Amino acid sequence: MKKVEAILKPFKLEEVKTALIKAGVQGMTISEIRGFGRQRGHKERYRGSEYTVDLVPKVKLEVAVSDAALSSVVEVILKSARTGELGDGKIFVHPLEQVVRVRTGEKGESAL
Ligand SMILES: Nc1ncnc2c1ncn2[C@@H]1O[C@H](COP(=O)(O)OP(=O)(O)OP(=O)(O)O)[C@@H](O)[C@H]1O
Ligand SMILES: [Mg+2]
Repeated sequence: MKKVEAILKPFKLEEVKTALIKAGVQGMTISEIRGFGRQRGHKERYRGSEYTVDLVPKVKLEVAVSDAALSSVVEVILKSARTGELGDGKIFVHPLEQVVRVRTGEKGESAL
């Protein structure tokens, strides 16, 4: 199993969420976060002699998937999240050791 963590532009959340549900994803977690990438939150790299970092509002989407579903889930996020502009976000894929459904005690892929 893998945990896919995608940092998105907030206005893209609805589109990405809808596309993932259509692709068969069973659940997801959303957080409102702030961050910066290569431009450090700026369109330009430097602002005079001042050196500041702007933290830009983003949405973090986390979804746990089977290894078999991983590539299609990443593809769906790519297609639905991309605008082609700076700051479109990033997808991090983590190994996922275990999942347990609290209500039933099911473990592993059947708990997804
Ligand atoms: N190396 C990183 N580590 C952790 N979070 C990151 C990293 N890079 C980007 N992020 C997160 O992703 C968000 C969007 O990053 P962004 O899309 O601007 O990346 P980028 O590498 O600058 O790409 P681009 O050149 O397309 O803007 C950031 O605000 C931050 O929350
Ligand atoms: Mg950037």
